[in-house]
Parts: sequence; C-alpha cells; structure tokens
Amino acid sequence: MPHPDLDAGLMIETAYAKVNVALHVRARRDDGYHALESLFVFAEHGDRLTAVATDDGAIDLVIDGPFGSGLEAGPDNLVMKAARALQAYLGDQRGAAIRLTKILPVASGIGGGSADAAATLRLLARLWDVRIEAEELAGLALDLGSDVPACVASVTQMVTGRGERLRPHPVEGLDGMAMLLVNPGVGVSTAQVFNGWDRADRGPLDATSLKTLVAQGRNDLEAPAIAAAPVIAQLLGALEGHDGLVLARMSGSGATCFALFDSDAAMADAAMAVQAAHRDWWIMETRIRTA
Ligand code: C5P
Repeated sequence: MPHPDLDAGLMIETAYAKVNVALHVRARRDDGYHALESLFVFAEHGDRLTAVATDDGAIDLVIDGPFGSGLEAGPDNLVMKAARALQAYLGDQRGAAIRLTKILPVASGIGGGSADAAATLRLLARLWDVRIEAEELAGLALDLGSDVPACVASVTQMVTGRGERLRPHPVEGLDGMAMLLVNPGVGVSTAQVFNGWDRADRGPLDATSLKTLVAQGRNDLEAPAIAAAPVIAQLLGALEGHDGLVLARMSGSGATCFALFDSDAAMADAAMAVQAAHRDWWIMETRIRTA
C-alpha cells in the first residue's frame, strides 16, 4: 500500500540495535524462562520506523529495507503487536500508517524485533500524544517480549529477571566505544538456544568496569548457539587478533557477534579484513550509544 508523502505529521524513530556485552544465565525458572544477568548496550544505528497518524483507526504497516523481505507485515509482526497493544491501552481507535525499514538482520540476537516493538511504542506514544506512566509502558513492553522493556530506554543498563528488572548502569569507557557487528547469515531460534543451555550456573556478572566485563563476563548462550550454528565459532575466531580489539563475544542468543575496539580506525581496519575474507557476512560499523 502506498504511503502518504512526507508531510508535517510524519514522525521518525530509530530501533537501536541491542547488544549484550555479557549475558549470564543463572537458572531455568518454573515458567520456562531463564533468570538472566546481562549488561545491555545499544548501537547508534538500527532499523528505522516512520509513521503518520490516520483517523480511521487502522494500523497499516509496510516493510522495506535490505532485510525487509524476511518479515511478514501481518498480525504477528512485533510492530503490529506493539501498535495494537497501545491502541488497546488507550481504548480508542487512533490509527497510523507505519513504515519499517529493516536494516538489521532478522532473528539475529541484536534485538531486531524487540527494538522494533519498543521503537513503535515510543513512536506512537509521540504521534498520538499518549500520556502513559513508565510502569504501564514497561508492562506493555514486557508482554511483547523479554528484551522489549530494556529496548524502550535503549541506554546502557543492567538487566535481570527474565528481562524486566532494569537498572541504568554506566560503565566508564564503554559508551561511545567503536563497535563492530557481524552476522554470518544464519538465523537461530532463541527458544532453541535457551533450551540447549546446560543448566550449569557459572556465576554472577561483575560489571563494575570494562576490565571485569572483558575478563570475567561471558555469554552463556555461546555454546548452545554454536551447537545450533557452528559458523558462530568461525565468526568468533575471525574477530580475534585484530589490532585495537578490546572484546569479541556473541550477543543474545546469536548468531550476531560484536567486537569492541579502542578506536574507530582499528574497527575500520578489522571490518575490512573480516569482510574481505567473508564476502557474504553482514557487517555494521557503529558505536555504543551514549544516553
Ligand atoms: O520473551 P521472548 O518472547 O522474547 O522470548 C523468546 C523465547 O526465549 C522464550 O520463549 C524463551 O524460550 C526464551 N527466553 C528464556 N528466558 C528469557 C528470555 C527468553 O528462556 N529470560
């Protein structure tokens, strides 16, 4: 469906890519979810959402962009679900025509769907001038997915519980850091990766400094993700050994891995080398978003 031309009523949001600098899985809960301790950061880049208000109550969604063909615009789409959730909360039928430009790979551990849902909540709250308490917004967000509450704020934070307990957690030297995101072109199922976790609690996350995050932080989902998609091991290997590298690790349930560098120039050199050796891998050069 064609969208209205750019006009004064158009609003824009970025669905910032989410990265788990460390993700410690502590226990499997009775409800099937896992108790986590994770330091979330966000990239300066992400998917792009635009919307204009309509007065017929309909939510129209079109999807484009480099990864747009991997997604359906139907009722199961998280953008659509977020819009419906906000409509239900309002109890009225304000409408919107939304365009999602999918820049991030789908099902890739950097929050694509969760970030899109959170950005939709932010975007429509502005578009419809919604007054909603932070706690109520967080409740709507959690219903959409475990990572969605953290994505609403999109700032560096410590996340616990199944994803609903959030604490701003600045780490000296982290915000603004050069960050390379690399995806090997395979999608992995979050539920399958969590199910493959060996249920061994390897201990709490100490995120008091970048140094402890690097030395003692882990992503406990790397092993089950590699079991599902062995190319992730190759990808982690390809990120090692570059000048200026501070940390290379998998994000979320994979398959995207990230690498932090001590300068933009070091990141650019590494990006060039990795892309030259792996033409079909998706690579994004970005930075950790500063609140
Ligand atoms: O909450 P969300 O729908 O994004 O989670 C997708 C799947 O990931 C869940 O169905 C569950 O299998 C797994 N998950 C988990 N523990 C968490 C978050 C997600 O087991 N804390």
